[in-house]
Amino acid sequence: MDTGRDPNRVVIFDTTMRDGEQSPGASMNLEEKKRIAAVLEEMGVDVIEAGFPIASNGDFEAVREIAKLVKTSSVAGLSRAAKKDIDRAWEALQGAAAPRIHTFISTSPLHMKFKLQMEPEAVHQAIIDSVSYARKLCGDVEWSAEDASRTEHDFLCRCVETAIKCGAGTINIPDTVGYAVPDEFASLIRMLFDRVPNIDKAIISVHCHNDLGLAVANSLAAVGAGARQVECTVNGLGERAGNAALEEIVMALRTRQNAMPYKTGIHTEVITRASRLVSTVTGFPVQPNKAIVGANAFAHESGIHQDGMLKHAGTYEIMTPESVGLSRSTLVMGKHSGRHAFKSKLKELGFELGDNAVEEAFRRFKDLADKKKDVFDEDIVALVDDQVVRS
Ligand code: KIV
Ligand code: ZN
Repeated sequence: MDTGRDPNRVVIFDTTMRDGEQSPGASMNLEEKKRIAAVLEEMGVDVIEAGFPIASNGDFEAVREIAKLVKTSSVAGLSRAAKKDIDRAWEALQGAAAPRIHTFISTSPLHMKFKLQMEPEAVHQAIIDSVSYARKLCGDVEWSAEDASRTEHDFLCRCVETAIKCGAGTINIPDTVGYAVPDEFASLIRMLFDRVPNIDKAIISVHCHNDLGLAVANSLAAVGAGARQVECTVNGLGERAGNAALEEIVMALRTRQNAMPYKTGIHTEVITRASRLVSTVTGFPVQPNKAIVGANAFAHESGIHQDGMLKHAGTYEIMTPESVGLSRSTLVMGKHSGRHAFKSKLKELGFELGDNAVEEAFRRFKDLADKKKDVFDEDIVALVDDQVVRS
C-alpha cells in the first residue's frame, strides 16, 4: 500500500457508464459517453468505469475512446474472471494514462450454485487465475466479490486474501442486490479488516445497490468501518433501483465533516451540471425531491421557511446551492408563501409599491395561489400591472 496516502481520503469510483447504463432504457451513445467522461474528469472523479469491453463492440469502443480522452482520472474496464474478457478490457484500455482492469466473480452460495454452476474451489481457483493474469498486464487491478453481502464469511475472507496475494490493489465488496442494512454492512467490512491478513495492502471498496433505498447509507457506514473507495453513479442510475448516488455520498461527506471526517477529491460545484447532462443523455428525469440535484432540493415554499430563509439561509439549508453549482436557492411562490417572501419577490421583479398596494397585491396573489398550483413570476407581474392600471 502507498504509505503516503491520506488515510481519510475516499476514492470516488464512478460507474455511471457501466452499471448506470445497465438501467433498462438508459443506453448512451459514444458521443454522449465522451461528454459524460469529460464532466466526470472535470468533477475530479478518481476512477471512471467506462464500460464492459467484452459485452459489445459499442462498449469496447466507448472504453477505448474514453481511455484516450481522459488524462487525470483512472479509467477502468470491467471483465469477468476469464482470460478473453481480461484481454478485451486490456485492449480497450491501451490508450489510458492510468488504466485499471476490474475483474469480478460471484462468491455467494446462491450465485455459485445457480448462476455460475461452479463449486467454491473452482471459484477460488478462478480468482487466482484471473487476478494473477490481469496483474501481469496491468499495474492497477480491482477484484470484486459479486454478491459479497450474501457470501459466507469464511469463504469471503479466503477469497479476499487470495485476491490480495495475487496482486489486486483494490478489493470491492458489492452489495449486489441491495440486501444489506447499514450496521450489518459496516460489520462485514470490519470483519474483513479483523480477519484478512495483509488487508492493508489493498484499498477496500464498496459498491451498493439501492433495492431497499439504503445504498448511500450502506456506503457511508462502510466508509466509517474502513472502506476507502465508494462506487457510485450520477443521479443514482443503475441496475434495478440503481446504485449509490455520487452526489449524495460526496455532499454527505462534505457537509457532515464533524460526523464523518473523510474527504473526497470531488469539485462539488460541477455536480449539478453532471446531473443534468446524465439526465438529458439518458432521458431519465431526476425526481423533483431528489437529494442534492432535484429541482426542489434548494426550493422553499412554506411561508415560515421563506421568512426564515430571507433572515438567514442556514435556517433551512444545510449546504449552499453554490456548493453544488447552482446560482441560488429559490423561493417558490404558492399558497403557503407569506408576506415577507412576497415583498421580496416584488422587489426582485422591480416593483416598488407602498404598503397599501403591497397588501392589495398580496391579497390578490393569495386568491390566485388558491386556484393555481404554481404562481410564476409572470403571474405576479400581470397581477401588479393590472392593479396599477385599475388604481
Ligand atoms: O453489483 C455488482 O456486484 C457489480 C459488480 C460487477 C461489481 O456491479
Ligand atoms: Zn452493480
